[in-house]
Amino acid sequence: MDDNFAATLTADDNLAKAFDVETIRKDFPILSQEVHGKPLVYLDNGASAQKPRQVIDAMSALFETSYANVHRGVHAMSQQATDAFEAGRDKTAQFLGAASSNEIVFTRGATEAINLVAATYGRSRLKAGDEVVISHMEHHSNIVPWQMLRDEKGIVLKVVPIDDDGNFMLDAYAELLGPKTKLVAVTHISNALGSVVPLKEVIHLAHERAIPVLVDGCQAVPHMKVDVRALDADFYVFSGHKLYGPTGIGVLYGKEDLLNSMPPYQGGGDMIASVTFEKTTYKKAPHRFEAGTPAIAEVVGLGAAIDYLDQLDLDAVAAYEAGLLAYATEKLSAIDGLKIQGTAKDKAAIVSFTMDCAHAHDIGTIVDYSGVAIRAGHHCAQPVMDRFGVSATARASFGLYNTRGEIDALVDALGTVRELFG
Ligand SMILES: Cc1ncc(COP(=O)(O)O)c(C=O)c1O
Repeated sequence: MDDNFAATLTADDNLAKAFDVETIRKDFPILSQEVHGKPLVYLDNGASAQKPRQVIDAMSALFETSYANVHRGVHAMSQQATDAFEAGRDKTAQFLGAASSNEIVFTRGATEAINLVAATYGRSRLKAGDEVVISHMEHHSNIVPWQMLRDEKGIVLKVVPIDDDGNFMLDAYAELLGPKTKLVAVTHISNALGSVVPLKEVIHLAHERAIPVLVDGCQAVPHMKVDVRALDADFYVFSGHKLYGPTGIGVLYGKEDLLNSMPPYQGGGDMIASVTFEKTTYKKAPHRFEAGTPAIAEVVGLGAAIDYLDQLDLDAVAAYEAGLLAYATEKLSAIDGLKIQGTAKDKAAIVSFTMDCAHAHDIGTIVDYSGVAIRAGHHCAQPVMDRFGVSATARASFGLYNTRGEIDALVDALGTVRELFG
């Protein structure tokens, strides 16, 4: 296990105690809603997290005071909007520990970021017979783009197995790497199980063989400090909406030389250096990958979400959430007929479970009547469901504003499920 990441996920009592969850909850207006006449207990953060007032206000302020299109305008408002937009890029670079803001490409989300790498790096560098290594616990967005490339180019997909607890099997991974491996594309944290992948080792083993690594960091960035340079990741992607920011904005981090060596993704305005009918030349990264008007307000909102997390300290968030995970694991394990799916030794605050008396969808529907929002289904990770021999799980995924009291509310609601179906 990677010591750095173990440390970020270990409950540190002092950090956790310093974390004032009640004050934090006041920043999230939606949390004071009632659902079915009960206080909302929002435990679907793995799908999408709620937004603090600071993010909502930053986006409104842009629209109310300084909105215009970016990069191309000479007027004052366009320059203000451009400054706000590029500040979002600078904040994102700092947040990830990137060497330069040029390494941050904005996309619609993590899905588009992975598709971008498959469509540019993959299409231009990989040929029939080349191998891409993924793991058994990838989200569909880190499986399907590579399958599309397989269909187009004849590349081969190799899948790293996971053990019965949902641990990434490092030895099996090392054996899969060979002269034909041209890319490793793995998740940082499984959205379906919560398992943390030992990324340092994964990347080290790949780099020993000069293989670049793409990391899907969607479920990691809201829960732990990520430093792409310390990890030495070649590509790292995430979505703004899971990081307490808006939808419609995602990030592709790529090492600058690597990005500049890749052909563009889409063609259009803002990504060109010059255009004639005979020949077009392209800007360098990141702009060569950002054709057309970007998601201006969403980048400003993402910047505000990053500011919000920065002032909280992600180590304190990680410590607090580790406490929530431990509490939820203990309480849920005590429920008769409930099985936690995914018990990896290194886990983030995500608990997937099944009950012998009810299907996951019934569980989700019944607890909703108590105001408790959880996810039920395959979580866009059908191979994980197949691996555990289930068609679906119920999943509680925690965020920095959740409390032990809310876990108690979930446990009570699951008692109702037992009463109705048991
Ligand atoms: C691990 C992981 N990767 C990728 C995605 C896709 O993110 P998006 O739909 O925001 O592109 C998700 C979303 O659930 C995820 O959990």
